[in-house]
Amino acid sequence: MPANRPKTKILVDGGDPDETLRIKKLIGFVDGQTTNPSLIAKNPEVQQLLASGYRLTTEEQTAEYKKIVQKISPLVGDAGVSIEVYADLDTTAEQMLAQGQEMFSWIPNAYIKYPCTHEGLRAAHVSVERGIRVNMTLCFSQDQAAAVYAATRGTKEPVYVSPFIGRLDDRGDNGMDVVKNILKMYQAGDHHVHVLAASIRHLEHLLCSFALNVELATVPGKVLEKWATQGSRLPDGSFVYQAIDPQGQALKPIEYKELDLNAPWESFDLHHELTRKGIQQFVADYESTLRKSA
Ligand code: E4P
Repeated sequence: MPANRPKTKILVDGGDPDETLRIKKLIGFVDGQTTNPSLIAKNPEVQQLLASGYRLTTEEQTAEYKKIVQKISPLVGDAGVSIEVYADLDTTAEQMLAQGQEMFSWIPNAYIKYPCTHEGLRAAHVSVERGIRVNMTLCFSQDQAAAVYAATRGTKEPVYVSPFIGRLDDRGDNGMDVVKNILKMYQAGDHHVHVLAASIRHLEHLLCSFALNVELATVPGKVLEKWATQGSRLPDGSFVYQAIDPQGQALKPIEYKELDLNAPWESFDLHHELTRKGIQQFVADYESTLRKSA
Protein backbone atom coordinates (compact mmCIF):
# COMPACT_ATOMS: atom_id res chain seq x y z
CA MET A 1 0.00 0.00 0.00
CA PRO A 2 1.42 3.45 -0.87
CA ALA A 3 2.58 5.43 2.19
CA ASN A 4 0.34 8.34 1.28
CA ARG A 5 -2.90 6.47 0.91
CA PRO A 6 -5.66 8.70 2.30
CA LYS A 7 -8.48 7.46 4.53
CA THR A 8 -10.86 8.80 1.89
CA LYS A 9 -11.48 6.20 -0.80
CA ILE A 10 -10.50 7.45 -4.24
CA LEU A 11 -12.70 6.77 -7.24
CA VAL A 12 -11.87 7.72 -10.81
CA ASP A 13 -14.52 10.00 -12.29
CA GLY A 14 -14.52 8.91 -15.90
CA GLY A 15 -15.70 6.57 -18.62
CA ASP A 16 -12.50 5.14 -20.04
CA PRO A 17 -11.05 1.84 -18.71
CA ASP A 18 -7.59 2.72 -20.11
CA GLU A 19 -7.58 5.89 -18.02
CA THR A 20 -8.55 3.92 -14.90
CA LEU A 21 -5.68 1.52 -15.50
CA ARG A 22 -3.23 4.38 -16.10
CA ILE A 23 -4.28 6.10 -12.85
CA LYS A 24 -4.05 2.83 -10.94
CA LYS A 25 -0.47 2.38 -12.12
CA LEU A 26 0.32 5.99 -11.31
CA ILE A 27 -1.06 6.26 -7.77
CA GLY A 28 -0.83 2.57 -6.85
CA PHE A 29 -4.52 1.92 -6.23
CA VAL A 30 -8.02 2.88 -7.33
CA ASP A 31 -10.84 2.18 -4.88
CA GLY A 32 -13.68 2.64 -7.32
CA GLN A 33 -15.11 4.44 -10.32
CA THR A 34 -18.05 6.68 -11.10
CA THR A 35 -19.51 7.05 -14.58
CA ASN A 36 -22.34 9.17 -15.94
CA PRO A 37 -23.99 9.68 -19.35
CA SER A 38 -21.71 12.63 -20.22
CA LEU A 39 -18.57 10.63 -19.37
CA ILE A 40 -19.75 7.61 -21.37
CA ALA A 41 -20.39 9.88 -24.36
CA LYS A 42 -16.73 10.99 -24.05
CA ASN A 43 -15.35 7.42 -23.99
CA PRO A 44 -12.67 7.21 -26.74
CA GLU A 45 -14.35 4.30 -28.57
CA VAL A 46 -17.73 6.04 -28.49
CA GLN A 47 -16.05 9.25 -29.69
CA GLN A 48 -14.40 7.35 -32.55
CA LEU A 49 -17.78 6.00 -33.65
CA LEU A 50 -19.33 9.46 -33.49
CA ALA A 51 -16.41 10.96 -35.42
CA SER A 52 -17.04 8.48 -38.24
CA GLY A 53 -20.60 9.77 -38.43
CA TYR A 54 -22.11 6.70 -36.78
CA ARG A 55 -24.94 7.14 -34.27
CA LEU A 56 -25.97 4.41 -31.85
CA THR A 57 -29.35 2.82 -31.29
CA THR A 58 -30.47 2.81 -27.64
CA GLU A 59 -29.64 -0.91 -27.51
CA GLU A 60 -26.14 -0.26 -28.84
CA GLN A 61 -25.66 2.56 -26.33
CA THR A 62 -26.62 0.22 -23.50
CA ALA A 63 -24.27 -2.45 -24.86
CA GLU A 64 -21.40 0.09 -25.03
CA TYR A 65 -22.07 1.21 -21.44
CA LYS A 66 -22.12 -2.42 -20.27
CA LYS A 67 -18.87 -3.20 -22.11
CA ILE A 68 -17.14 -0.16 -20.57
CA VAL A 69 -18.16 -0.93 -16.97
CA GLN A 70 -17.29 -4.61 -17.42
CA LYS A 71 -13.75 -3.55 -18.35
CA ILE A 72 -13.51 -1.17 -15.39
CA SER A 73 -15.07 -3.51 -12.82
CA PRO A 74 -12.03 -5.78 -12.17
CA LEU A 75 -9.63 -2.80 -12.02
CA VAL A 76 -11.10 -1.21 -8.92
CA GLY A 77 -11.32 -1.90 -5.20
CA ASP A 78 -14.25 -2.22 -2.85
CA ALA A 79 -15.90 1.14 -3.59
CA GLY A 80 -17.33 -0.39 -6.76
CA VAL A 81 -18.38 1.08 -10.08
CA SER A 82 -21.28 3.52 -10.21
CA ILE A 83 -23.54 3.18 -13.25
CA GLU A 84 -26.15 5.85 -13.96
CA VAL A 85 -29.68 5.16 -15.16
CA TYR A 86 -31.14 7.23 -18.00
CA ALA A 87 -33.57 9.70 -16.45
CA ASP A 88 -35.17 12.78 -17.93
CA LEU A 89 -37.48 15.06 -15.98
CA ASP A 90 -40.47 12.76 -16.64
CA THR A 91 -38.86 9.37 -15.98
CA THR A 92 -40.77 7.49 -13.30
CA ALA A 93 -39.31 5.54 -10.39
CA GLU A 94 -40.52 2.32 -11.99
CA GLN A 95 -38.66 3.12 -15.23
CA MET A 96 -35.48 3.94 -13.30
CA LEU A 97 -35.83 0.82 -11.19
CA ALA A 98 -36.17 -1.44 -14.24
CA GLN A 99 -32.90 -0.03 -15.62
CA GLY A 100 -31.22 -0.15 -12.21
CA GLN A 101 -32.14 -3.80 -11.75
CA GLU A 102 -30.68 -4.68 -15.17
CA MET A 103 -27.50 -2.58 -14.73
CA PHE A 104 -26.89 -4.08 -11.29
CA SER A 105 -26.57 -7.51 -12.97
CA TRP A 106 -23.82 -6.29 -15.33
CA ILE A 107 -20.97 -6.51 -12.80
CA PRO A 108 -20.57 -7.86 -9.25
CA ASN A 109 -19.51 -4.48 -7.78
CA ALA A 110 -22.15 -2.13 -9.22
CA TYR A 111 -23.69 0.90 -7.53
CA ILE A 112 -26.72 2.31 -9.32
CA LYS A 113 -26.93 6.07 -9.69
CA TYR A 114 -30.33 7.69 -9.36
CA PRO A 115 -30.88 11.45 -9.27
CA CYS A 116 -31.81 13.22 -6.01
CA THR A 117 -35.40 13.81 -7.15
CA HIS A 118 -38.70 12.52 -5.84
CA GLU A 119 -38.74 9.72 -8.44
CA GLY A 120 -35.05 8.95 -7.95
CA LEU A 121 -35.58 8.59 -4.22
CA ARG A 122 -38.60 6.35 -4.73
CA ALA A 123 -36.44 4.15 -6.96
CA ALA A 124 -33.67 4.13 -4.34
CA HIS A 125 -36.09 3.22 -1.57
CA VAL A 126 -37.21 0.08 -3.42
CA SER A 127 -33.68 -0.68 -4.69
CA VAL A 128 -32.17 -0.94 -1.23
CA GLU A 129 -35.02 -3.22 -0.14
CA ARG A 130 -34.05 -5.47 -3.07
CA GLY A 131 -30.35 -5.40 -2.18
CA ILE A 132 -29.37 -3.09 -5.06
CA ARG A 133 -26.57 -0.74 -3.95
CA VAL A 134 -27.24 2.90 -4.80
CA ASN A 135 -25.34 6.15 -5.32
CA MET A 136 -27.63 9.18 -5.17
CA THR A 137 -26.31 11.69 -7.65
CA LEU A 138 -26.87 15.37 -8.52
CA CYS A 139 -27.07 16.28 -4.84
CA PHE A 140 -26.74 20.01 -4.22
CA SER A 141 -28.35 20.54 -0.83
CA GLN A 142 -28.45 19.31 2.72
CA ASP A 143 -32.21 18.71 2.34
CA GLN A 144 -31.60 16.32 -0.55
CA ALA A 145 -28.99 14.46 1.51
CA ALA A 146 -31.40 14.24 4.46
CA ALA A 147 -34.00 12.73 2.11
CA VAL A 148 -31.42 10.19 0.87
CA TYR A 149 -30.75 9.20 4.46
CA ALA A 150 -34.44 8.86 5.33
CA ALA A 151 -35.43 7.04 2.12
CA THR A 152 -32.73 4.37 2.46
CA ARG A 153 -32.88 3.71 6.21
CA GLY A 154 -32.62 0.00 7.00
CA THR A 155 -30.34 -0.83 4.06
CA LYS A 156 -27.81 -3.61 4.58
CA GLU A 157 -25.29 -2.11 2.13
CA PRO A 158 -23.75 1.37 2.37
CA VAL A 159 -25.58 3.99 0.34
CA TYR A 160 -23.59 6.75 -1.38
CA VAL A 161 -24.71 10.36 -1.72
CA SER A 162 -22.80 12.52 -4.20
CA PRO A 163 -22.72 16.25 -3.45
CA PHE A 164 -21.51 18.15 -6.54
CA ILE A 165 -18.89 20.64 -5.35
CA GLY A 166 -17.68 22.18 -8.62
CA ARG A 167 -21.11 22.92 -10.07
CA LEU A 168 -22.04 24.88 -6.92
CA ASP A 169 -18.72 26.73 -7.12
CA ASP A 170 -19.49 27.53 -10.78
CA ARG A 171 -22.43 29.65 -9.72
CA GLY A 172 -20.56 31.35 -6.89
CA ASP A 173 -21.69 29.15 -3.96
CA ASN A 174 -19.16 27.36 -1.79
CA GLY A 175 -19.77 23.74 -2.80
CA MET A 176 -17.40 22.48 -0.12
CA ASP A 177 -19.84 23.84 2.51
CA VAL A 178 -22.53 21.41 1.34
CA VAL A 179 -20.14 18.50 1.88
CA LYS A 180 -19.21 19.83 5.32
CA ASN A 181 -22.86 20.39 6.29
CA ILE A 182 -23.96 16.93 5.17
CA LEU A 183 -21.13 15.30 7.15
CA LYS A 184 -22.14 17.28 10.25
CA MET A 185 -25.82 16.38 9.83
CA TYR A 186 -25.03 12.68 9.37
CA GLN A 187 -23.15 12.60 12.69
CA ALA A 188 -26.55 12.27 14.35
CA GLY A 189 -27.40 9.26 12.20
CA ASP A 190 -26.54 5.58 11.90
CA HIS A 191 -23.84 6.10 9.22
CA HIS A 192 -25.56 4.01 6.56
CA VAL A 193 -25.03 6.81 4.01
CA HIS A 194 -21.46 7.55 2.93
CA VAL A 195 -20.57 10.91 1.46
CA LEU A 196 -18.92 10.75 -1.97
CA ALA A 197 -17.45 14.14 -2.85
CA ALA A 198 -18.16 14.69 -6.57
CA SER A 199 -17.69 17.32 -9.26
CA ILE A 200 -14.13 17.83 -8.06
CA ARG A 201 -12.36 20.34 -10.28
CA HIS A 202 -8.98 20.91 -8.66
CA LEU A 203 -6.50 19.77 -6.05
CA GLU A 204 -7.89 22.05 -3.33
CA HIS A 205 -11.27 20.28 -3.56
CA LEU A 206 -9.49 16.96 -3.17
CA LEU A 207 -7.28 18.05 -0.28
CA CYS A 208 -10.24 19.60 1.53
CA SER A 209 -12.20 16.34 1.05
CA PHE A 210 -9.28 14.51 2.69
CA ALA A 211 -9.13 17.08 5.50
CA LEU A 212 -12.87 16.61 6.16
CA ASN A 213 -12.41 12.82 6.20
CA VAL A 214 -15.06 12.38 3.55
CA GLU A 215 -15.66 8.64 3.09
CA LEU A 216 -15.15 8.74 -0.70
CA ALA A 217 -14.15 11.19 -3.41
CA THR A 218 -14.56 10.76 -7.15
CA VAL A 219 -11.82 12.55 -8.99
CA PRO A 220 -11.11 13.27 -12.68
CA GLY A 221 -7.94 11.62 -14.00
CA LYS A 222 -6.30 15.01 -14.62
CA VAL A 223 -6.66 16.03 -10.95
CA LEU A 224 -5.28 12.67 -9.81
CA GLU A 225 -2.32 13.08 -12.18
CA LYS A 226 -1.61 16.49 -10.65
CA TRP A 227 -1.95 15.05 -7.14
CA ALA A 228 0.57 12.31 -8.03
CA THR A 229 3.07 14.67 -9.67
CA GLN A 230 2.98 16.81 -6.52
CA GLY A 231 3.93 13.81 -4.37
CA SER A 232 0.41 12.54 -3.46
CA ARG A 233 0.48 14.84 -0.45
CA LEU A 234 -2.11 14.71 2.30
CA PRO A 235 -3.27 17.83 4.16
CA ASP A 236 -1.80 18.32 7.62
CA GLY A 237 -3.40 20.10 10.58
CA SER A 238 -2.51 23.50 9.14
CA PHE A 239 -4.52 22.99 5.94
CA VAL A 240 -6.92 25.86 5.24
CA TYR A 241 -9.34 25.61 2.34
CA GLN A 242 -9.42 28.74 0.16
CA ALA A 243 -13.08 29.14 -0.83
CA ILE A 244 -12.45 31.17 -3.97
CA ASP A 245 -13.39 30.85 -7.63
CA PRO A 246 -10.76 30.69 -10.44
CA GLN A 247 -10.81 34.52 -10.61
CA GLY A 248 -9.98 34.73 -6.91
CA GLN A 249 -13.47 35.91 -5.90
CA ALA A 250 -14.77 34.60 -2.55
CA LEU A 251 -17.44 31.90 -2.84
CA LYS A 252 -20.71 32.47 -0.97
CA PRO A 253 -20.96 30.39 2.22
CA ILE A 254 -23.83 27.90 2.50
CA GLU A 255 -25.30 27.89 6.00
CA TYR A 256 -25.87 24.72 8.03
CA LYS A 257 -29.54 23.79 8.56
CA GLU A 258 -30.99 21.87 11.50
CA LEU A 259 -32.84 18.96 9.87
CA ASP A 260 -34.41 15.91 11.50
CA LEU A 261 -33.08 12.76 9.85
CA ASN A 262 -35.99 10.83 11.33
CA ALA A 263 -38.55 12.82 9.35
CA PRO A 264 -40.22 11.11 6.34
CA TRP A 265 -38.09 11.52 3.21
CA GLU A 266 -40.94 13.16 1.28
CA SER A 267 -41.01 16.00 3.82
CA PHE A 268 -37.63 17.43 2.73
CA ASP A 269 -37.29 20.10 0.06
CA LEU A 270 -35.95 18.14 -2.90
CA HIS A 271 -35.98 20.93 -5.41
CA HIS A 272 -32.67 22.33 -6.62
CA GLU A 273 -32.21 24.14 -9.90
CA LEU A 274 -28.84 22.46 -10.50
CA THR A 275 -30.39 18.99 -10.16
CA ARG A 276 -32.84 19.92 -12.89
CA LYS A 277 -30.11 21.37 -15.10
CA GLY A 278 -27.87 18.37 -14.46
CA ILE A 279 -30.59 15.95 -15.59
CA GLN A 280 -31.12 18.00 -18.76
CA GLN A 281 -27.39 18.00 -19.50
CA PHE A 282 -27.07 14.24 -19.00
CA VAL A 283 -30.05 13.70 -21.34
CA ALA A 284 -28.50 15.98 -23.99
CA ASP A 285 -25.11 14.23 -23.82
CA TYR A 286 -26.74 10.79 -23.94
CA GLU A 287 -28.91 11.77 -26.90
CA SER A 288 -25.93 13.22 -28.77
CA THR A 289 -24.69 9.65 -29.23
CA LEU A 290 -28.00 8.35 -30.57
CA ARG A 291 -29.47 7.79 -33.98
CA LYS A 292 -32.55 9.97 -34.51
CA SER A 293 -35.62 7.77 -34.74
CA ALA A 294 -37.57 8.19 -38.00
C1 E4P B 1 -19.79 11.83 -10.46
O1 E4P B 1 -20.47 10.97 -9.95
C2 E4P B 1 -20.36 13.02 -11.09
O2 E4P B 1 -21.21 12.65 -12.13
C3 E4P B 1 -19.27 13.95 -11.56
O3 E4P B 1 -18.35 14.15 -10.50
C4 E4P B 1 -19.77 15.29 -12.08
O4 E4P B 1 -18.70 16.15 -12.34
P1 E4P B 1 -18.83 17.49 -13.20
O5 E4P B 1 -19.66 18.46 -12.43
O6 E4P B 1 -17.43 17.97 -13.39
O7 E4P B 1 -19.51 17.11 -14.49
